[in-house]
Amino acid sequence: MVHLVVGPPATKVAFFDREKILERIWKRIEVGSLLLVAPRRFGKTSIMLQMRDFPKDDTIVFYMDTEWISEPIDFITEIVSQLADEEGNGFLEKVKGLSKRGLKYLQGAIEETEISGFKLKLREALKENWKEMGRELLQLIETIDKRFVFIVDELPLMVNRMLKKKGEEEVEEFLYWFRTVRISSGLKNIRFVIGGSIGMEHILGKIGAIASINDLERIQIEAFDNKTAYLFIKELLESEDITPEEEALKKILEIIEVNIPYFIQVLIATLSNEVLYLKTKKITPELVEEVYQNRVLGVESRTYFEHYYQRINEYYDHKEAKATKLILKDLSRAEKLSRTELFDIYVRATNDPEGEEGFNHLMADLENDFYVKSEAENGEYEFITKVLRDWWRRYYGFVD
Ligand SMILES: Nc1ncnc2c1ncn2[C@@H]1O[C@H](COP(=O)(O)OP(=O)(O)O)[C@@H](O)[C@H]1O
Ligand SMILES: [Mg+2]
Repeated sequence: MVHLVVGPPATKVAFFDREKILERIWKRIEVGSLLLVAPRRFGKTSIMLQMRDFPKDDTIVFYMDTEWISEPIDFITEIVSQLADEEGNGFLEKVKGLSKRGLKYLQGAIEETEISGFKLKLREALKENWKEMGRELLQLIETIDKRFVFIVDELPLMVNRMLKKKGEEEVEEFLYWFRTVRISSGLKNIRFVIGGSIGMEHILGKIGAIASINDLERIQIEAFDNKTAYLFIKELLESEDITPEEEALKKILEIIEVNIPYFIQVLIATLSNEVLYLKTKKITPELVEEVYQNRVLGVESRTYFEHYYQRINEYYDHKEAKATKLILKDLSRAEKLSRTELFDIYVRATNDPEGEEGFNHLMADLENDFYVKSEAENGEYEFITKVLRDWWRRYYGFVD
């Protein structure tokens, strides 16, 4: 049975549903590498770990969280050491037969029995010429009679870090190197599944490197549909020994609005916590509303959604961040605003009356990054979900 998980990836029994999308991923991966996209907290990492824990046929799946990586040599070192660490594939034996250059270091690396020592020496070796050596090492995989899937989680965060540490030129070199590795015709038994919040296009767009991921098939991870969400909520409550009234379940769905698994977990965890202090284990619509207003939006839950605010400073440049905060602030109070009204706010924030193009880009980013949605007919914008809008108004609706 599922149980509450609020924050870390949901794995094993805590992992709910997602059969269809997993089936699709395994099917499409036959053809080529994939890009899994969804805003943060939709459940990408959970799906990736499910692939690793329950691989199809005898595929070997390596999961790599690349968020901390800030240079290409670390990326290659991670891939290679995953291979070296997996027993019985004979990879290291093959490395011995390799390389004119960097041989000395690579030899040293192979002799290391500790994986940490191996990594250090490999890193040293790669410093000399990561592009060529990296390619050679990865091509060795082709001679192993197994199928490998490398999951690269949070590529946008890695790119962001690389940008800060290494600069645009090296990031671009890396991204196109990685693309060549993926599509080079030799590598038939390796696939990559790359994950990231939709912000990917935002970051790659900035450095003009969108084409570096155009070989990847995009697979969008959606929120749960209503039926799935209903069952999920019911099972979560049952796992906490709570029997909800049918009307209360409806109320929960109504508040959640967009069935993001994380938002559901937060609400149910909070409800369950509240019920601990009450005599009854029955949940009514009134109780749901009360818990939502006073607890989910209350100070003790503030951090649950704080990353939506924090990442503005991380990903948007200074001017955009300033405009974004003003726009979201006004939007959280007004519920809906027209494009013209929003443009006025933008101009106020940026002092750029000619900034139509910048404004258009920003609004598209805010939509892609899951802050706002727009209605095509009347050009009005509003927050993407009620929970986020209510939360925003409470914490950032009245501050300057
Ligand atoms: N399949 C799932 N079953 C149950 N809970 C999930 C599932 N997917 C996501 N969640 C919830 O969402 C949170 C974030 O999931 P995660 O996989 O880390 O999302 P992402 O990688 O997209 O940010 C988890 O802590 C959990 O509360
Ligand atoms: Mg994740």
